[in-house]
Amino acid sequence: MTLRNLLESRLAQALQKAGAPADAPPMLGLATRPEFGDYQGNGVMGAAKRMGLKPRQLAEQVVAALDLGDIAEKVEIAGPGFINITLKNEWLAAHLGQVLADERLGLAPAASPQTVVVDYSHPNLAKEMHVGHLRSTIIGDALVRILEFLGHRVIRHNHVGDWGTQFGMLIAYLDHLEREGQDLSGELADLEAFYRAAKQRFDEDEAFARLAREYVVRLQGGDAHCRQVWQRFIDESLHHCEQVYARLGVTLKREDVRPESAYNDDLAHVVEDLDKAGLLRESQGAQCVFLEEFKDHEGEIAPVIIQKSDGGYLYATTDLAAVRYRAGELKADRILYIVDARQDLHLRQVFAVARAAGFAPASCSLEHHPFGTMMGKDGKPFRTRQGGTVKLLELLDEAEVRALALVSEKNPELPEAERRHIAQVAGIGSVKYADLSLNRTTDYIFDWDRMLALDGNTAPYLQYSYTRVQSIFRKSGIESLGTQPGLHLTEVAERNLALRLAQFAETVESVARECYPNILCAYLYNLAEIFMRFYESCPVLKAEEPTRSSRLLLCQGTARTIRTGLGLLGIETIERM
Ligand code: ARG
Repeated sequence: MTLRNLLESRLAQALQKAGAPADAPPMLGLATRPEFGDYQGNGVMGAAKRMGLKPRQLAEQVVAALDLGDIAEKVEIAGPGFINITLKNEWLAAHLGQVLADERLGLAPAASPQTVVVDYSHPNLAKEMHVGHLRSTIIGDALVRILEFLGHRVIRHNHVGDWGTQFGMLIAYLDHLEREGQDLSGELADLEAFYRAAKQRFDEDEAFARLAREYVVRLQGGDAHCRQVWQRFIDESLHHCEQVYARLGVTLKREDVRPESAYNDDLAHVVEDLDKAGLLRESQGAQCVFLEEFKDHEGEIAPVIIQKSDGGYLYATTDLAAVRYRAGELKADRILYIVDARQDLHLRQVFAVARAAGFAPASCSLEHHPFGTMMGKDGKPFRTRQGGTVKLLELLDEAEVRALALVSEKNPELPEAERRHIAQVAGIGSVKYADLSLNRTTDYIFDWDRMLALDGNTAPYLQYSYTRVQSIFRKSGIESLGTQPGLHLTEVAERNLALRLAQFAETVESVARECYPNILCAYLYNLAEIFMRFYESCPVLKAEEPTRSSRLLLCQGTARTIRTGLGLLGIETIERM
């Protein structure tokens, strides 16, 4: 059990004994200041209000009922009714000893694993992957790693856009090139250029535009030739995505692709079932769902369009089929959508219609975890100097080139192959960490200098901190600590480090719950800083036994925690930098 869960459950019991309502939350948080102890319970005020008691009075009853055994040194009531808890050093040392003896650093696999579908990355295959897909890919991949580590059954869904009118134009163009005997693999090597060429032709050549429209209809009708050309295009586009995934170290595989087209055959049934559920209404020839909750301030309900007047389906129709498949067939307990904040209304509509139609039972949690736009330093959406979209592979090349320059400047004596490896790990790590470390809901400014800096909340800083801790071991000549030594927390800096190390498990659990990877980043950064303070004030190798071994164990615990934490974020570590 994590430290937090342990204290929380004891506090909850005490609240009950003091007569609080059964659902009154203990609201345990980290103490906001060192003089308040280690943790702080904030639930008394809310409970007292519901009970019609003075908060101080309830706080006293809760503290009297609070059984922390030998866990706490001190329990104090502060302010209107906060309960401040200070852990006992010996208990903390023993608890951390157990955590560090555990390969998983105290993160027990979930007692009741859930089935979690994570919808992320999902590029539109008509075009090459660009920076717009970076955030979903990076954030989603960190979340699947964390959920999987916690023992959940994770199903990755790369809901790629592979259907729609654009594909008529693209395959008509591909077909045309093939008839002309062009080298297709060369033409498709740059999908962006291919798209532009097809679009230009579409805009300029009336006959071609007509053909393209005809191809859409034939494709949708299952015409074998159109299907085959389309499949070739899709395969090529997915191959591009896979190159990006490989470079980024993202865990998505071909079998995780669950494209929009996979739901084609189900769309008519979605419409039928919505109709049976009495939810459909015709409006201007289109089939729509009107739900009270989408009433605007004038009392008008904005409709969710399910089928157009020409019989065509919409983005929302596909998403409804997807919810039904995930909740119904896959029996998902949670479905996470790592999708751009601009699709907020779309997803709220999809969720609401899915609930109304019974496509997802109440037990299945539908969660949109939005993120903001990636901006350039000029505060405008991130683009190339020429104003074009930034291609991901080029961006990753630049990350490595810049990191290599920095490494070569700092460590010119390292062999080139090693410098290149460091540049790759630090360069890719920087791009990922810069995104993960910020609260995802805000827009984020892409800034090379900041993300590659060796100080501050960056990947290189953490990777470097890791190498510093590891170098202590190299200097000690100790390979491993053998049987685990006891921990002795006498100095404040030792205690601070021990407490922070013991909080790794609860931090990861909270990220799995709330889906904010920046919380884990902030934790790791803070841990690295606390470690530096410890290392400045507490000699390790020069200390006498048993202090020396105890401090070495703290060092080793720090290194393992940073490596494991970065690993859960999809970021690698190296032994020398
Ligand atoms: N392919 C879509 C886009 O590029 C994103 C898909 C998000 N997932 C979903 N289930 N709608 O905008």
